[in-house]
Amino acid sequence: MAAPLDSTPAWHAVAAFAASAGDVRIATLFDTDPARVQTLSRDAGNLHADFAKLPVTSETVARLGDLAAAADFDGWRARLFGGAVVNPSEARAATHMAERGVGSAADVAAAAPGQAALRRVAEAVRADASVAHVLHIGIGGSALGPALLLDALGEHGDGPAVHVVANIDGVALARAFSQCDPARTLVVIVSKTFTTQETMTNAESALAWLAAAGVAEPRARCIAVTAAPKRASAWGIADDRILPFAETVGGRYSLWSAVGLPLALRCGVAAFDALQAGAAAIDEHFRDTPFARNLPAMAGAFDVWSATFRRQPVRAVFAYDERLRLLPAFLQQLEMESNGKRVARDGAVLDYPAGAVTWGGTGTDAQHAVFQLLHQGNHPGPVEFVAVIRPGHALGGDHHRQLLANCFAQGAALLRGRTVEAALALSGGDPALAAAKTFPGNRPSATLLLDRLDAFTLGQLLAFYEHRTFTAACLTGINPFDQWGVELGKEMANAAQDSGGAAGTFDASTADLLRRCGL
Ligand code: F6P
Repeated sequence: MAAPLDSTPAWHAVAAFAASAGDVRIATLFDTDPARVQTLSRDAGNLHADFAKLPVTSETVARLGDLAAAADFDGWRARLFGGAVVNPSEARAATHMAERGVGSAADVAAAAPGQAALRRVAEAVRADASVAHVLHIGIGGSALGPALLLDALGEHGDGPAVHVVANIDGVALARAFSQCDPARTLVVIVSKTFTTQETMTNAESALAWLAAAGVAEPRARCIAVTAAPKRASAWGIADDRILPFAETVGGRYSLWSAVGLPLALRCGVAAFDALQAGAAAIDEHFRDTPFARNLPAMAGAFDVWSATFRRQPVRAVFAYDERLRLLPAFLQQLEMESNGKRVARDGAVLDYPAGAVTWGGTGTDAQHAVFQLLHQGNHPGPVEFVAVIRPGHALGGDHHRQLLANCFAQGAALLRGRTVEAALALSGGDPALAAAKTFPGNRPSATLLLDRLDAFTLGQLLAFYEHRTFTAACLTGINPFDQWGVELGKEMANAAQDSGGAAGTFDASTADLLRRCGL
């Protein structure tokens, strides 16, 4: 068995460097390196990342490069691209890239039937004037990615309106029903396992809704997207209405497969092709670019620097573009379900945080809601700004200028802060008021700038986040492709329904709550 990563000299060197550089003022780093912005910016495709406002230097990059070598980053990346097992707890490869044509020839060939079915179905549905609405039923990775694609790109689509329903709370489905004409609605049931309770219950209710409205054969109005086609078939979906994808495509990585059908339905197959092409361009960058120049690899390494070595495992992501308002929710699953782990690949218990808590929102709304904590709270952690140079509207006026100015001003304010002296001058010498108006500054942030937001660039952005997450996992020695942590909750939810508050099944608190609700 290989030595634990945290016992390697490279790990100790990063840890010692983090400890010695602990109190560094980022502003000082700007003073000492006039080329800092160039040194700490990276470009790939239509993405530009400015890491200069993070507490890092060229030396940090070098030390993290040594850690990447100790972690066999090159080897794990080669295994990922080669279709070898990278998910040891499930003995699986991770072949989401094959869905966009990248990876081993065998994996790309295995993805081809699902990709062909997706295109065939999308074109047929778009040509069918009787379909005005699509109900996309799925949860987790079977909903968050598709919802993001639709929200970001769907506005000007000319296909049917797609409604994504995830929650088991019937309010979600009832709201979607109220916007759909059952006689003109196609139901797409998306579940990798085709067993997920929320999705199967919502699917049954959708069938009942169709039947109640007089639709003759409700199951013939359904399409299944799944890695378990036999289960979909047993549920009553005709084989030519089942779009398959491989078991080796994880839920949170699945939007490139037929799970992304809503984008193709709403915007056309060409948009889906462009999304995949953008992602494939970043795959090539990630595969072929040396670590220190590699955009996703550097972002992932800096995430580890912050969360693991500086012990600031909280990262806020703010999308300064309305079209990306669902990005933080998507990233929460991608990053926290991937890297929210407490054991290494070999099962050794970690004594360091491997991933961060990801949270965030939309700028500028969030400035007026949560930025107080970022500027003056005692909750250190990096902030990430995501902005798009070209506006997503034709309103003219000052909207986009103000939006971008606000975005960049927040990063500047987090960095600069306000001194006690400046605060005193603003407070008429009142020390308590001055304290309240003092900003410590030196708060780290990174900015991701997209040229524009089209399908190609969105594909680049999402692939960037996937590879960044993979890199962070690699540098902390964990498996980002399993999610055993959700299983216990699922088991106990079943137990709560099966046995309710029966004596001995649950702790007294839970039993009482179940009893109060008649469960
Ligand atoms: O419960 C977590 C999870 O397994 C996610 O990983 C997945 O995206 C989601 O549930 C939905 O699973 P499925 O696509 O199998 O319905």
